[in-house]
Amino acid sequence: MDKLVIEGGVPLKGEIRVSGSKNAALPILLASILVDGEVRLTNVPNLRDIATTLKLLELLGCRAEYNDGDVLLHSCDLKPEAPYDLVRTMRASVLCLGPLLARLGRARVAMPGGCAIGARPVDLHLKGLEQMGAVFELESGDIIGNCDRLKGAHIHLDFPTVGGTEHLIMAAALAEGETVLENAAREPEIQDLAEFLNACGARITGHGTSIVRIQGVESLHGCSYAVMPDRIEAGTYLVAAGMTKGELTLRDCPVDALDSVIAKLREMGMFIEGDRDLLTATVDGPLHCVDLSTRPYPGFPTDMQAQIMALMCVSRGAGVITEGIFENRFMHVQELARLGAHITLSGQSAMVRGVDTLKGATVMASDLRASACLVLAGLAAAGRTDVRRIYHLDRGYEQMEVKLGAVGARIRREQE
Ligand code: EPU
Repeated sequence: MDKLVIEGGVPLKGEIRVSGSKNAALPILLASILVDGEVRLTNVPNLRDIATTLKLLELLGCRAEYNDGDVLLHSCDLKPEAPYDLVRTMRASVLCLGPLLARLGRARVAMPGGCAIGARPVDLHLKGLEQMGAVFELESGDIIGNCDRLKGAHIHLDFPTVGGTEHLIMAAALAEGETVLENAAREPEIQDLAEFLNACGARITGHGTSIVRIQGVESLHGCSYAVMPDRIEAGTYLVAAGMTKGELTLRDCPVDALDSVIAKLREMGMFIEGDRDLLTATVDGPLHCVDLSTRPYPGFPTDMQAQIMALMCVSRGAGVITEGIFENRFMHVQELARLGAHITLSGQSAMVRGVDTLKGATVMASDLRASACLVLAGLAAAGRTDVRRIYHLDRGYEQMEVKLGAVGARIRREQE
């Protein structure tokens, strides 16, 4: 198992190119099951979750080739079974269920288990698919689904679930008639998925708003599509500039999708200027803690909660962070405490009191964004920090230590 070793305290300076978005690429890859023809994707990040998805697609009968950010896919000989061993390692794999039902009328997909950040059920996905005519039973931990051609339906989501919205958009793309999704999630990655499907001949409108309309079509054709840049990776590096009192310029930064994050970082005292081509983040003087709550988009993203907490740990004053999406996403708190942070947890809220300096220590990553938060804290801490169990980081950050090293961080990967 690998760990990252960081000697903190160096202000980062230079340029970082933002990679393609993991959370946009995953549903787009799985949506290619719906397509009758060849799909060419570019800007696909080289990550463990992407490799897992390509493996799953191959098991489902798709030809999949990855070459330096380009993916070539052809779902020519589909099979309806997604095995537990793959679904277990990545929740997003459940998104193959709807596309398989739409193409084959049957599917057997392992029920994804809980994960470190919460129970995360898929009840809203299944409820929506049932409204479209699918019938499910659970057998030996697998969801077995059957249907004739799926039928368009009027679906109201109890909660604007990201994966649920993506799943139902995919299934509805090949359903008979119109599907209307109300209280749909509005995340930019959902917009990217809808744009991809439209490029394949789907008829989706309203994506990016809370009412999405999908006119089902008979079939989808191949296309070439570039995945959007990763807003969470970009946000993480903006925080890195703040943590180290450095100056970082991001190339290919999805600025519009980062509005809520940039607004909070400015409120804390950072200067962030520029546009999608080049966005520069600098710090001139002390930063201040703020209050914030994570919310569905366009609110502050839960996937940036851990990172901004790291920044508040070394800022002046006190602030309260409330987690509004997941019930168990504060596992980084006890690790930050090992570095000398002052954080008090109370239910879904964490009160952070800034300290002058963090001190390096050995810490353990518990999930993807918690790992990023610990690396950020290590960059600011005095002395050496070892971040263990970084396989989480490899699921979602492309070459993080290489990118940070190129802008001055003293960081290296070592085997435990
Ligand atoms: N929920 C339900 N029932 C459902 C679906 C969701 O109760 O059927 C609940 C979940 O338990 C959770 C909340 O709704 O408490 C939000 O879940 P959502 O479905 O919106 O999230 P997701 O699709 O499972 C995606 C991202 C996450 C990101 C969330 C929220 C991907 C592959 N994953 O997850 O990304 O945190 O949306 O924005 O897109 C990450 O990248 O680190 C990550 C965890």
